[in-house]
Amino acid sequence: MTPAAPFDRVAESLLAFWAEAGIDAMLLDEPLDRIEAGKFVAPKPVDKKPPPPPPAGQVRAGPGGDIAAAVIEARRLAAEAKDLEALKAAIAGFDGCPLKFEGARQSVFCRGAADAPLMVIGEGPGAEEDARGEPFVGRAGQLLDKMLGAAGLKDRVFITNTVFWRPPGNRTPSPQEQATCLPFLERAIELVSPKMLLLVGAPSAKSMLKREEGILSLRGRWFEWRSEAGNLELPAMPTLHPAFLLRQPGAKKKAWSDLLTLTERLDRPDRGA
Ligand code: URA
Repeated sequence: MTPAAPFDRVAESLLAFWAEAGIDAMLLDEPLDRIEAGKFVAPKPVDKKPPPPPPAGQVRAGPGGDIAAAVIEARRLAAEAKDLEALKAAIAGFDGCPLKFEGARQSVFCRGAADAPLMVIGEGPGAEEDARGEPFVGRAGQLLDKMLGAAGLKDRVFITNTVFWRPPGNRTPSPQEQATCLPFLERAIELVSPKMLLLVGAPSAKSMLKREEGILSLRGRWFEWRSEAGNLELPAMPTLHPAFLLRQPGAKKKAWSDLLTLTERLDRPDRGA
């Protein structure tokens, strides 16, 4: 018979499971023993005050806001950013992405080499990234770093996401939220000028390539990514998200094979497909 796991290990693993599923807050300030109370007590309704109006001249696309106007504003701000520092500041000051007003602590832009030959684009920040202000620094990020390191890409990547604020509960970012962040992402691609893109997970692959297939069909194949204005073009490869690999370790060999295919092309002098 297998000995029972100690209670603290069981509790720790359960908490980790919840945190990964995006459950990182209690409903009530004080714990409530519902068995003792003998009846269900509904949590207090959330105070749904509308956010204060944006300062004059600024666009805010909160729930029900004007996404088209926010995209135009994002394009203007992104075009004005002369370098990555200016772009980071422009993102932090932008009020047009609804996610900014849905509980995110701060904007999360990028990490890595400013002149990297490879740009990794994930889905969006999670809890750890929201707390630290950098992309891919949680468990999934650690696995991503290990894989990039093993492929010889450690200092040759620039890492970012399709959205720059954490979606509440780690839900998938909506196409509208991605659209308001896209001008900044495209400007980052222009400034870094990578040779190729690695699109990590379905929300990144589908939004960047405007494809509807699932990630299992997209992964490991080469696509040509094109910017909205058509002035930038790069080879792009979708692959599995490291958070998925943590849940399904059996899929790691597929992601590893994608990374090797990509590295082989990146290191080839002509970089042709
Ligand atoms: N998952 C992502 O897609 N991006 C991050 O930055 C972290 C987790």
